[in-house]
Amino acid sequence: METLLQQIEKYKTEIKDFVAQKSDEVESFRIKYLGTKGLVKEVMGEMKNVAADKKREFGQLLNEFKLFAEAKYDELKATTGNEQLAMDSSIDLSLPADPLPLGSRHPISLVRNQIVSIFQRLGFAVAEGPEIEDDWHNFTALNLPENHPARDMQDTFYISQNPDWLLRTHTSSVQVREMEKGNLPIRIICPGRVYRNETISARAHCFFHQVEGLYIAENVSFADLKQTLYFFVQEMFGKDVKVRFRPSYFPFTEPSAEMDISCLICGGSGCNVCKKTGWVEILGCGMVHPNLLENCGIDSTKYTGFAFGMGVERITMLKYQIKDLRLFSENDVRFLKQFTSAI
Ligand code: PHE
Repeated sequence: METLLQQIEKYKTEIKDFVAQKSDEVESFRIKYLGTKGLVKEVMGEMKNVAADKKREFGQLLNEFKLFAEAKYDELKATTGNEQLAMDSSIDLSLPADPLPLGSRHPISLVRNQIVSIFQRLGFAVAEGPEIEDDWHNFTALNLPENHPARDMQDTFYISQNPDWLLRTHTSSVQVREMEKGNLPIRIICPGRVYRNETISARAHCFFHQVEGLYIAENVSFADLKQTLYFFVQEMFGKDVKVRFRPSYFPFTEPSAEMDISCLICGGSGCNVCKKTGWVEILGCGMVHPNLLENCGIDSTKYTGFAFGMGVERITMLKYQIKDLRLFSENDVRFLKQFTSAI
């Protein structure tokens, strides 16, 4: 027993002082001490010769010895691996890792966020609603009763299971939902995707994105509408851009107008984008029709309001001079990665 203990101590010193430079030296350490015919196993085998009353004490000692050898082996493995890498001159461990490719936001998201943030600064809150709508919120409540010819202005996708359901053709439906809640005054913008049954081309798509706005309070006037939209245009396109309003027709507003800005491409002198007129239309707007207020339970003798709606694709095309609407939905990374913005 005495000699066995001395033997173990001797092995332990050997193990402690063992140095390895290469991984095959580590492997010979493993074979010598921890292998199936290694010294740890051999010493363990001595258990059978130990007196019964000493077995417990001796067992503990052997176990410690085994753990000691294993710990040294782990340490050798960890350090030698690195030394080897460091010695291999083709690998520079001080180099920073390859950066992961960063994605970028979709141009439609960038421009939508920018539009939203401009109106938020004026106190507008964001409201959202479902893309599958019912006839009431998309048409009837908006002063477009059944068989009204103006329904043809927006080619609609209907859901075949239920003739009352459709894909919303504008986010005005969200405005109806907000008006129905009756928390006045209302000052909201409604960003979202809308659908129209159009043939896909460079200028039209069966889905696109809008930001519509609605302000209802006492004494809201057309002057408020104009001032709000002037502010928007200046923030979005800069101070030099000119603005004009043209009378128009929408069933949900009276009076109604369309707003044009001076062409960003040619600066007003006439090009293909503005069809040689120097102006491009960017949104529809007007004073909320009293019928709408009444349809949603709002007293039209007390409250007035304005509404406007714009297409995000159109504004993005003008801002980045993109000529084909289809690029937005083709998911070509070469196109998408060109757009960056602080927002
Ligand atoms: N809802 C209209 C459209 O989608 C836009 C609009 C909104 C016009 C509000 C006037 C007032 O074409």
